[in-house]
Amino acid sequence: MSTPSYTKITPALLDQIAAAVGAGNVFTDQGSLADYSHDETEDLRYYPEVVVKPADTAGVAALMKLCNENHVPVTPRGGGTGLSGGALPVFGGVLLSMERFKSILSIDTDNLQATVEPGVITEEFINAVGEKDLLYPVDPSSKGSCFIGGNVAHGSGGPRVVKYGTIREYILNLEVVLPTGEVIWTGANTLKYASGYNLTQLMIGSEGTLGVVTKIVTKLIPKSEFSVVMLGSFPENETACAAVSAIFRAGITPSALEFMERRGVEWVIHYNDIKFDLKDGINAFLMIEFDGNDMDTIFKDCEKVNAVLESFGCTDVLFADTAQQKEELWKMRRTMAESVKSNSVYKEEDTVVPRAALPKLINGIKEIGSRYGFESVCYGHAGDGNLHINIIKAGMSDADWKDRLKEGIAELFELTAALGGTISGEHGIGLVQKEFMPIKYSEIHLNLMRSIKSVFDPNSILNPGKIF
Ligand code: LAC
Ligand code: ZN
Repeated sequence: MSTPSYTKITPALLDQIAAAVGAGNVFTDQGSLADYSHDETEDLRYYPEVVVKPADTAGVAALMKLCNENHVPVTPRGGGTGLSGGALPVFGGVLLSMERFKSILSIDTDNLQATVEPGVITEEFINAVGEKDLLYPVDPSSKGSCFIGGNVAHGSGGPRVVKYGTIREYILNLEVVLPTGEVIWTGANTLKYASGYNLTQLMIGSEGTLGVVTKIVTKLIPKSEFSVVMLGSFPENETACAAVSAIFRAGITPSALEFMERRGVEWVIHYNDIKFDLKDGINAFLMIEFDGNDMDTIFKDCEKVNAVLESFGCTDVLFADTAQQKEELWKMRRTMAESVKSNSVYKEEDTVVPRAALPKLINGIKEIGSRYGFESVCYGHAGDGNLHINIIKAGMSDADWKDRLKEGIAELFELTAALGGTISGEHGIGLVQKEFMPIKYSEIHLNLMRSIKSVFDPNSILNPGKIF
């Protein structure tokens, strides 16, 4: 990475920052700098020079204006659960934590909309609208600690995308502080928008490089009354993956369709001390959820899917319809990332392909791994064609892990691109995937992105060093 020269934080600048946001919201102690030096990405650490926690939009605006005028880098941060290093302050400077933006400002049950601040924990928002029989279906595995603002920044998904879509379908309008300190609303609180370039959609997934989101207007939908979860066991990864597209061809849209490899399930059982009968000869699982307001329809869909699964060699299907059974299965799936992390040195890739290409993707991952000497635990949102590849160091030497693995990862992404996919479905590019962007995107494409960045952020002070 070429290192742009930024202004270091001086005592005089610290005084100005304190004047802009309030002295009680500015932290330079070693403990705070260490706490905000990492997110959930591998074991990477970059120390900010100061952590700033403004309380309102005016504070963020004053801070951005000051940093822009003084050429100080600012890295915005939500819950710190990111897996691509998007919240790492790689050039030091200001770490802008949005943790004080905690309010659900309104839930409008006439229009089925809500206005929230970006520091609201996603699960708390889901629960708050759930109490009004409404659904906000964007629930990444980290929902208990991630912030809705971070979800906006990453274009987050999660298991229910297959039926309900990503966060892109649920954001109507955003209040954004631009790098210059000016404040705009990106769109309108409407379900349609054909009024020029859609800046709301541009902000979603921009990974905190174009502006700092300070208010979020979301769409809500009615909550289904019932749900059922099935867990199908397969002797082979390939046939489990092949069953995925067949389920949709049978005319069914589940509310979740997740893939898990055996080793991931083994580790998650151990990590959580779950009681689960993991049978010999089973190497892959499909976890399928159906929701709706009519149990008969749900059961009919289950039967149809059962027949599809059997035709692809599924040997066993577990049904969960009590709240506790469903919760246990979801816990298994949702804690897989942290189970793998606790078990091994690993790197995380977030491939996504058109879903019928999943069998080729999973076979290709294993083949590339065997040539480079790494193992992998794969799991993810198979209904979206989205596989998380957790690369396990296994017998790889430290030198190969550090240098040669990059070539193997490049091959994984070349395969993904050749299958019509892309290099991240929901975790973003951030710091750790940016060197692989040219595998998928031409220089023309990347230059368009760079040009957009420079329009919003001419001095490149907002989350520099990310995406490209
Ligand atoms: C999951 C996160 C890692 O699907 O995206 O569990
Ligand atoms: Zn995921």
